[in-house]
Amino acid sequence: MADGHDMGERAKFREMLEGTKEDWDIIVDHSKSFNKGLAKRVLNHLRLLDGDFGGFPIDRLEHSLQTATRAHRDGRDEEYVVCALLHDIGDTLGSYNHPDVAAAILKPFVSEANLWMVANHGAFQGYYFFHHLGLDRNMREHFKDSPHYEYCAQFCHLYDQAAFDPDYQSEPLEFFIPMVENVFSKPVNSMYLKAMQE
Ligand SMILES: [Fe+2]
Ligand SMILES: [Fe+2]
Repeated sequence: MADGHDMGERAKFREMLEGTKEDWDIIVDHSKSFNKGLAKRVLNHLRLLDGDFGGFPIDRLEHSLQTATRAHRDGRDEEYVVCALLHDIGDTLGSYNHPDVAAAILKPFVSEANLWMVANHGAFQGYYFFHHLGLDRNMREHFKDSPHYEYCAQFCHLYDQAAFDPDYQSEPLEFFIPMVENVFSKPVNSMYLKAMQE
C-alpha cells in the first residue's frame, strides 16, 4: 500500500544490528510501493499553499500554477515546468530557506541546471524586491561565476517575478499532474537507487 499504513509483513529486528537479508527484503519491497506514491504526496503538499496569500495579490498555489503555466506556454520542457510548479513548495516548512526544501525534493529527478535554478532562485528573485526591504538586490551577484547564473536569472525574470497577476488564466493543478508523475517516476540521483530498482 502506498499510504504507509499497511498491515503486511514486517521485519523482526529490534535494533538494526540484528537485521537480516530477509528483514531488508521486506523493507525494500514496502519502499518500492511507497515510493510510487511520491508524486501524489508532493502534490498534496503543494495543495497546502492554496489560500495562503501572505499579503501577496494571489495565493501561493496560484503563484505556483502561474509560474508553471508561463513556463509551459513559453515552450519549456516537462522537467523545467515541474521545477517551476514546485519551486515554492518549501514555503510551508522552510520559512527561512524555502528554496532548499524544493531543491531537496527535486534533487533525485532533475538536471544540475534545473536543480541549481530551484536551489538558488531566492537570491535571484530578490533582485525584484530586496531593495524595498533594506536588503541588497544584487545579492545574486555572489553567484556571477556560476554557469547557471543566466539560466536562473531568466527563470526569475520571465516566470517567477512575473507570476503575481490576478487576471492571468493559469492551467489548473490537474493539468500538471501527469508531468509531475512522469518526472518523479525516474530517479537518477540517489544513494539508494541501486537497491530500489525493480
Ligand atoms: Fe521562491
Ligand atoms: Fe515564486
